[in-house]
Amino acid sequence: MVKITVDDRELEVEEHLTVLEACIQNGIFIPNLCFLKTRHHPHASCRLCFVSIEGYDRPVTSCTERVRDGMVVKTNTPEVRALQKSAFKLLMSLHPCHPKICPTEKPCLLMRIAKHIGVGLNPKPLEHIDRGLPDLVDFGPLYYVPNRCVLCAKCIHTCRTINQMPLLTFAKRGIMTMVAYFDGEQNTSICANCNACVDVCPVAALLPKSAFTSSVESRKA
Ligand code: SF4
Ligand code: SF4
Ligand code: FES
Repeated sequence: MVKITVDDRELEVEEHLTVLEACIQNGIFIPNLCFLKTRHHPHASCRLCFVSIEGYDRPVTSCTERVRDGMVVKTNTPEVRALQKSAFKLLMSLHPCHPKICPTEKPCLLMRIAKHIGVGLNPKPLEHIDRGLPDLVDFGPLYYVPNRCVLCAKCIHTCRTINQMPLLTFAKRGIMTMVAYFDGEQNTSICANCNACVDVCPVAALLPKSAFTSSVESRKA
């Protein structure tokens, strides 16, 4: 065990943990979208989990930094918030968010992050970039909503770790990147329909068809 201080709170944590894991275990919220406990190497793509650490000249991502005895961490300095706001605004410029017509009832982590760092879900001045992606993609027993996807790769990793033949991958490049089946539509028939990818998605970009249909029906009622 090692002792660290986070926002003036002393914690005793296991020494193999990252700063983000130590904070999560102790109920300290740090915005994050791509952290996944079962992933040995952090994806570190969302750039939201910044913290300031005493002795460092700039904030670092807490999902890539291991705890050390005596470490002093701040989760809410102006520099941390500025970096988080920049990353979040960029993310939301590619991710149109309309809570009233959201295709799911699932509470969204984006709302929590926006509130925590003090920005709106559709922050200005960045304009939304219309990538021309389809509204819905048929994934056999699932629907995939490309414009909600934040490309955290949690679904890809999770499907890979529970299936001997991983089904999901990233397709296309740059801002057109989407999740896809490895072998186009052919693989949708061998999806185990386990919903593991649905459960790890932080923004409900993957939905079981049954849940999607009942959600739409309840809105019509
Ligand atoms: S439902 Fe299960 S098998 Fe199908 S894509 Fe998702 S994780 Fe893979
Ligand atoms: S579908 Fe969900 S879990 Fe998969 S990459 Fe997109 S946001 Fe992440
Ligand atoms: S959780 Fe650290 S960069 Fe996404």
